[in-house]
Amino acid sequence: MEKSMRTIEWKDSYSVGHAGMDQQHKKLVSLLNEFSQALSRGEGKTKLYETLMGLVEYTKKHFKDEEELMASSGFPDLDEHKAIHKQLTNKVINYAVQYNAGELTNTVELLNFLKNWLVDHIQGVDIKYGQYLAKS
Ligand SMILES: [Fe+2]
Repeated sequence: MEKSMRTIEWKDSYSVGHAGMDQQHKKLVSLLNEFSQALSRGEGKTKLYETLMGLVEYTKKHFKDEEELMASSGFPDLDEHKAIHKQLTNKVINYAVQYNAGELTNTVELLNFLKNWLVDHIQGVDIKYGQYLAKS
């Protein structure tokens, strides 16, 4: 099999209707895939941690950009969305810290968490500002 089962493929249904944010979401998906592939190649812990932190850092940048976009467009549920971002960021950092300390051995669990939050967040939460932007 050419492509790993663990790889997420971008679907049009993930689009929030904003080109810049779609671009960043695609980048997040590709960073997640990098981590996933590094795992299935059996890369060393340092490499895996670096890849995971790359995802964390880009996530922070992305959330900041997204919050700025929502704020500048007057999106009414900004605070709620920010709170969700904060929770997600804390959770991911927590996983990364646990992972680095060798306390997280179930990398499949970590991977599933990352995949689910990414896709669920885009389709469940980000889509709301996408719909708002489309109307305004
Ligand atoms: Fe978001």
